[in-house]
Amino acid sequence: DNPNKVQDEKLGDICKYLADEVGVFDWVGFYLVDPNADRELVLGPYVGEETDHTRIPFGKGICGQAAETNETFVVQDVSEEDNYLACSVHVKAEIVVPVKKDGEFVAELDIDSHTKDSLTNEHREMLEEVCSIIAPLF
Ligand code: SME
Repeated sequence: DNPNKVQDEKLGDICKYLADEVGVFDWVGFYLVDPNADRELVLGPYVGEETDHTRIPFGKGICGQAAETNETFVVQDVSEEDNYLACSVHVKAEIVVPVKKDGEFVAELDIDSHTKDSLTNEHREMLEEVCSIIAPLF
């Protein structure tokens, strides 16, 4: 019995919808703050290739840096980032958007693109709106 079943299903549906609807979104997933760890993210529902990065400490990679700053992080060319965790050689661009509950960082939406320079300001605004709408799920 999974107590987070409803949350998992809804987050999974959002990943699937975004990956289906937006051509340049090749991997879409959520990382959640692990309440049983010290400043660590744990992989939640996702759509796309399997990843080795199922746990990410705050501060590490694009995901960990977004967790630390509680701000959206857009990278148009991952080859220019020193603090980056490679999931797949195909990934060229990445956006991470925090989910804030009463201002507090609780999770993040992580999206990888196989196309460099593909992440627009419209994507960013849409994803920030999605993350604000889903905050009550956490
Ligand atoms: N690239 C991320 C790791 C997560 S994968 O993209 C799914 C990072 O640098 O934090």
